Amino acid sequence: MSKIEALKLIGNTPMVHLKTLDPKPGVEIYAKLEFMNPTGSIKDRIIQYMVQKGLDAGKINANTTLVEGSSGNTAASVAMIASSMGLKSILFVPDKCSEEKIAIIKSYGAEVIVKSTSSSDPNDEYGVAAGIKASESEDYYYIDQFNSMLNPEAHYMTLGKEIVDDMNGKIDAFVAAGSTGGTISGVAKRLKENDPNTKIILADPEGSINKPYFEGKEDYMSYKKSFEVEGAGKTKIVKTMDFDILDEAISFNDENAIEMVLRLARDEGLMVGGSAGGNVWVALEVAKRMEAPAKIVTVIPDSGFKYLSKMFNSTWLKEKGFGHLIAN
Ligand SMILES: Cc1ncc(COP(=O)(O)O)c(C=O)c1O
Repeated sequence: MSKIEALKLIGNTPMVHLKTLDPKPGVEIYAKLEFMNPTGSIKDRIIQYMVQKGLDAGKINANTTLVEGSSGNTAASVAMIASSMGLKSILFVPDKCSEEKIAIIKSYGAEVIVKSTSSSDPNDEYGVAAGIKASESEDYYYIDQFNSMLNPEAHYMTLGKEIVDDMNGKIDAFVAAGSTGGTISGVAKRLKENDPNTKIILADPEGSINKPYFEGKEDYMSYKKSFEVEGAGKTKIVKTMDFDILDEAISFNDENAIEMVLRLARDEGLMVGGSAGGNVWVALEVAKRMEAPAKIVTVIPDSGFKYLSKMFNSTWLKEKGFGHLIAN
């Protein structure tokens, strides 16, 4: 692994009490600020961990090109870490990926391939396309965040442990959205070991199939529809999501998430991404039904600076039908 100082800045992110949101005295919402990681997202944790494991296993060497499919944040982490090691990277992202994220990934020195989300060819799905690419050469190393159990393991080893320490072991509920499910699955395992009574709640965007699947709906695939929030939810079931560890799934919609994103900027001084808006919106719903004393913890997976052309842009908000959320 590279010796650049930036890699030492991964993890040990701040935990903040979102005081303006507390629904009643003694019921407190806390958020782990994962945008403080060097590339501005939670994904630096898993890529640092997974690349180190690849090095330890002798699967990554000086000729290796790292290949991955990502909604954009994992791609930035792969690009940054690959370049810091003098390696190439090829990243597949969906066309929903914000232009800021694509610019960030390219700035770190990666090749970016944008895949259409409206294509009827299953091989055009960005994760599938990355897997196909990775199979073309022995020098390609596939990170495979949707299938590699090193992903939830990274969160168990780092984020989950930090949350227990930050909260002195007192966590009544943990809320997180899932795409790979690595965050919620890995953190939940650590939190349940700390206290089996901690409730694990999946925040799932409307249009994702995770909630209907978790609830045992046979027609769960019929719940699939497009939504704006990036990085949260899934339109297929993936290996890295541990549904057995969840206690509940709560839906949020784009409007809930965007309204909360704008509120967090104004009231809490935090510029966060759409999935963070969904996470905090669901955390607040959970908090409203809890009795004091209670501590609800969630994560802020990435920075709002990655979406300046979207949720923080009044033209985009109006085009998407969210113009009424603009304060002035
Ligand atoms: C912005 C954002 N939020 C949430 C998530 C979900 O994290 P996980 O893949 O660990 O479930 C991702 C993952 O891509 C993400 O990019």
